[in-house]
Amino acid sequence: MSSTSATDQVAIHTNGLSSGLDYLPGFGNHHVSEAVPGAVPHGRNSPQRAPLGLYAEQISGSAFTQPHAVNRRTWVYRIRPSAVHPPFRPIEHPTLRTAPAADCEPNPNRLRWNPVPFPERPTDFVDGLFTLGCNGDARTHAGIGVHVYRATASMTDRYFVNADGELLVVPEQGPLLVHTEMGRLGVAPGEIVVIPRGIRFRVELTTERARGYVCENYGNPFTLPERGPIGANGLANERDFLAPVAAYEDDDRPVELVQKFGGRLWAAGYDHSPLDVVGWHGTYVPYKYDLDRFMVIGTISFDHPDPSIFTVLTSPTESPGLANADFVIFPPRWLVGEDTFRPPWYHRNIMSEFMGLVRGVYDAKAEGFVPGGASLHNRFTSHGPDAATYQKASTVDLAPQKVADTMAFMFEARWPIDPSRQALDADFRQPDYDAVWADVRREFPRP
Ligand SMILES: [Fe+2]
Repeated sequence: MSSTSATDQVAIHTNGLSSGLDYLPGFGNHHVSEAVPGAVPHGRNSPQRAPLGLYAEQISGSAFTQPHAVNRRTWVYRIRPSAVHPPFRPIEHPTLRTAPAADCEPNPNRLRWNPVPFPERPTDFVDGLFTLGCNGDARTHAGIGVHVYRATASMTDRYFVNADGELLVVPEQGPLLVHTEMGRLGVAPGEIVVIPRGIRFRVELTTERARGYVCENYGNPFTLPERGPIGANGLANERDFLAPVAAYEDDDRPVELVQKFGGRLWAAGYDHSPLDVVGWHGTYVPYKYDLDRFMVIGTISFDHPDPSIFTVLTSPTESPGLANADFVIFPPRWLVGEDTFRPPWYHRNIMSEFMGLVRGVYDAKAEGFVPGGASLHNRFTSHGPDAATYQKASTVDLAPQKVADTMAFMFEARWPIDPSRQALDADFRQPDYDAVWADVRREFPRP
């Protein structure tokens, strides 16, 4: 069946089971989905002629020979092979950066930003990307780009694909309807969506404007952390990750595909929608996750555990336990530790920490860190609770306490995140961030 969404005029073809959004549950599962029955061949991937006059195409997200646990690929059955397109030409994007970037340089200072303002003119998800920092080298599949987005328009006649990295999108304001080659994902603040490297998509707004954060992961794809002694369940559970069901656009309007490749954008004019996959099967898929499904582990005796207990997804490196980047959340939870300083302690880490706030208040900062804002604490940068938080947490009666209505998160990176010049110069940066620790007073008695 077909449906036309409220904010654009592209006909979406689904399997007719539902005009809403359906999902396939499970992290890393091998899914099969058909928007038209019979679109996916049985018993083989590439018959002499694919069903329904479709073309078979394999999209490999891992090298063919990588081990089974990390091997990801999807077979798609589409109206045209994706090879049907003219050359790409480079285009400019004034606020998007990729590591290594000449104007992203190491900086040992603690940095904090207010929310990035919305633009005056209509701006879609891609145009609204603003890079705060990056590290590593996208061309060698190492490091991350840290961006914020602010959008006031849907992508109706253009599509995006990123060959440099997968995109982990953390909405802070406004829901997104993400149309991908594998189908549609609706994602709202409090949820995340991950779009694998090389998968085409467009972002539709269903409200006037939308804002949030993006981790562009140049490294190995995000996966679930090992649970170790926690056991077979807990933290982010596999069943709560949702992949889309097949839906396709059969549309011969002229459109543009924008590709991020080698640190810059390239565009090609298409005479059809690149989201023309009628059926697919495989493991290389976009997915969404509701952060409120995260099962939080914490102390029931004393001390604040290391924040690795809050890891939702990790991009592993060749070194066991060392992440290229972790996606970590600080969700609502009970604090019950006895004789314990309950907020995060003062610390310096070899890992580098970019933080954002989706809603509420973060328990290490009394004020100044607001939803849509951000902070950066790079390698071995001293940080921790501000003066007001320390005073309160070190003297409060330690009754069980519910930390409610909050959702902070962290992109924790292997290498320091080099802030962009535009982020340092932005008038929404807080130049006096160091002052939050200025009033932490000496309590050790003077001789
Ligand atoms: Fe920290």
